[in-house]
Amino acid sequence: MAAPLRIALAGLGTVGGGVIRLIETNAALITRRAGRPIEIVAVSARDRSKDRGVDLSHYAWEDDMTAMAARDDVDAVVELVGGADGPALTLARNAIQHGKSLVTANKAMIAHHGLELAELTEKAKVALKFEAAVAGGVPVIKGLREGAAANNIDRLYGILNGTCNFILSSMEDTGRDFADVLSEAQAKGYAEADPSFDVEGTDAAHKLAILSAIAFGTRIDFASVDTQGITRIQAADIAQADALGYVIRLIGVAEVDEEGGQRRLFQRVHPHLVPFDHPLAHVDGATNAVVAEGNFAGRLLFQGAGAGDGPTASAVVADLIDIARGDLGGEAGAPFSIQVAEMETMAPAPSGHRLGRAYIRFMVADRPGVLAEITAAMRDAGVSIESLIQKGRHEEGGNVMVAMVTHEGPEARVSEALRLLEGSPALAEPPLVMQLLGD
Ligand SMILES: NC(=O)c1ccc[n+]([C@@H]2O[C@H](COP(=O)([O-])OP(=O)(O)OC[C@H]3O[C@@H](n4cnc5c(N)ncnc54)[C@H](OP(=O)(O)O)[C@@H]3O)[C@@H](O)[C@H]2O)c1
Repeated sequence: MAAPLRIALAGLGTVGGGVIRLIETNAALITRRAGRPIEIVAVSARDRSKDRGVDLSHYAWEDDMTAMAARDDVDAVVELVGGADGPALTLARNAIQHGKSLVTANKAMIAHHGLELAELTEKAKVALKFEAAVAGGVPVIKGLREGAAANNIDRLYGILNGTCNFILSSMEDTGRDFADVLSEAQAKGYAEADPSFDVEGTDAAHKLAILSAIAFGTRIDFASVDTQGITRIQAADIAQADALGYVIRLIGVAEVDEEGGQRRLFQRVHPHLVPFDHPLAHVDGATNAVVAEGNFAGRLLFQGAGAGDGPTASAVVADLIDIARGDLGGEAGAPFSIQVAEMETMAPAPSGHRLGRAYIRFMVADRPGVLAEITAAMRDAGVSIESLIQKGRHEEGGNVMVAMVTHEGPEARVSEALRLLEGSPALAEPPLVMQLLGD
């Protein structure tokens, strides 16, 4: 039997605890599949005295997790602490520079510093693996990087945040409003005490930027992901979408187009209306799903649990098994499928020329002439309205909801119509626009 792969584990929370349980429970199977045991040598977290439901007495404890990078008895470091910068990043840099492979579930760190870390691994000839960073237990990075490696992919999209999907599908099932469902999700542990990273779309944007790099060979460009969260969605929007034959899902879309011989990158995370007969309409609860279109493989759908200790640990340990087998991701490592120097710098693609249909919801003063003002703005901007619904009359002088769906047209026209309406006293709040997801 070959020598074990010796690992150090930083972070013993949800995912770290799951990794220990998985390595202990499936030790024999992992050893057979990896060709050698995976052995935890050292662990670190903030509070040594915390009961984590696992026996840590066999492992060395490090108060300063960054010290694990320099241990001679460690081959690979697993970072499960979180945060784009801070100790997680220091540990990652140090570990690689000390010639250790790095496995992480940290999408924020990879979205912000993934290229820098990848360059370090190329020099150090070690692995950088982050399957758990995107869609938890779903092997979408392996799927794109390995299974679909021969394909040209120029579009992918999907449901990348389980918390948002749980909230939206609960709103759909119960008819309750966002704030109400969010509180329940927090009570059940599906949403963090500070849920803003999830519900504002940032977490999904991190994952989308990572997937774009792998699928299209472009340098990670998190800053240009056009991001809009789900906080403004009301029960009435969900009911309206339902009446039209749609569900609402937070969808990340990434596409490559070409302008004057230059490839450009379009990245957006927005709530969308998804038709009932689309596979993503049936992705409920905390599930994640990614669709990628390969020019030879056709449409690929990756779906499964996007978070939680078990699924996320499964992805982390799969990466460790690769490393134990000696698969570092190419001779000098290529975590994003190709070497960093080969990755393209693509300009962000503007959205205005994109053709699509949109759902637009206005909250307006309940008085004569308001509807005419809105439809005039649409007409002047060249937006063609397919359907328009005014919902319920409140008491005299209250606000009412006006929802419309447009015919297909350039997105710039909708933006222009909303610009024409800007500052109108008829509008009680800024309109909410959601694209309809096409085929
Ligand atoms: N949870 C999921 O389902 C999931 C899914 C996919 C990816 N991820 C990613 O996995 C990573 C870990 O997530 P998690 O949910 O397991 O987080 P968590 O439950 O909050 O655990 C974080 C761990 O890091 C430790 N820690 C925090 N700051 C530290 C510091 N300065 N020095 C040493 N240790 C420190 C904590 O120590 P104490 O326990 O002592 O406080 C804790 O053990 C994050 O990058 C997250 O985005 C999580």
